[in-house]
Amino acid sequence: MRKPFIIANWKMNKNVHESVAFVKAIKEKLPTNKEIGIAAQAVSLYNMKEVAGNSNLQIIAQNASAELEGPYTGEISMRSLADAGVTYVMLGHLERRRLFNESNDSINQKVLAALQVGIIPIICTDEEMVQTEVNGKIHYVFQQLRSVLKGVPASKLSQVVISYEPSWAVGSSHQANPDVAEEGCQAIRQSLVEMYGNKIGDSIRILYGGSVNPDNIYKIMSKPNVDGALIGRASLDIESFLQMVNCVE
Ligand code: G3H
Repeated sequence: MRKPFIIANWKMNKNVHESVAFVKAIKEKLPTNKEIGIAAQAVSLYNMKEVAGNSNLQIIAQNASAELEGPYTGEISMRSLADAGVTYVMLGHLERRRLFNESNDSINQKVLAALQVGIIPIICTDEEMVQTEVNGKIHYVFQQLRSVLKGVPASKLSQVVISYEPSWAVGSSHQANPDVAEEGCQAIRQSLVEMYGNKIGDSIRILYGGSVNPDNIYKIMSKPNVDGALIGRASLDIESFLQMVNCVE
């Protein structure tokens, strides 16, 4: 049974005080039948964890270095994140790939570094509209998956979380379409089953991201291969976020 996982990705929004105030306001109001997480700017994570305590809120980093320590000025170490109470790290988000030229290879190195220190990677995959049109989407996502998961020990694969974000749905005015979400997540599931067999393929959680909001989350989360949501804009408001985390029993 895959536990639903709903994640707020705040991107480069909210300062430390705003982040802490948000956590204070929601931590007692979170359902326990699903995992809930917030991916915030690195500077806020330690304070957010202090406030979240043992509540059902995972504190998530948006990126980190593949190096665990050393002369890498300006980078953030997975080891330091673990020490700060961070349990998950998002890797390979579309914006990291497009704006900061992150490659499948560099994301793969980060995945391995995260697992080395006990942080669970949330690995983001994406695809372009043109790839959908020529039905090349499955092949593209499959390539991404194979590369970023290279060398991950079989014993750790079930912990890993994958997200699927069609690039045209991220930060756009497109309405998120539950059937498109299911199609992408199902393609990823199929690829995982082909790569690792049914037991592992069926146990990995796959999240959908791209224009999720309180009006469409229920239908998206009702799809059989969608185990959760990665939410940008609609997660910045407390009421909207609480509505979404309570959307599914
Ligand atoms: O990580 C979240 C995604 O990039 C989706 O962002 O919900 O603002 O479209 P959005």
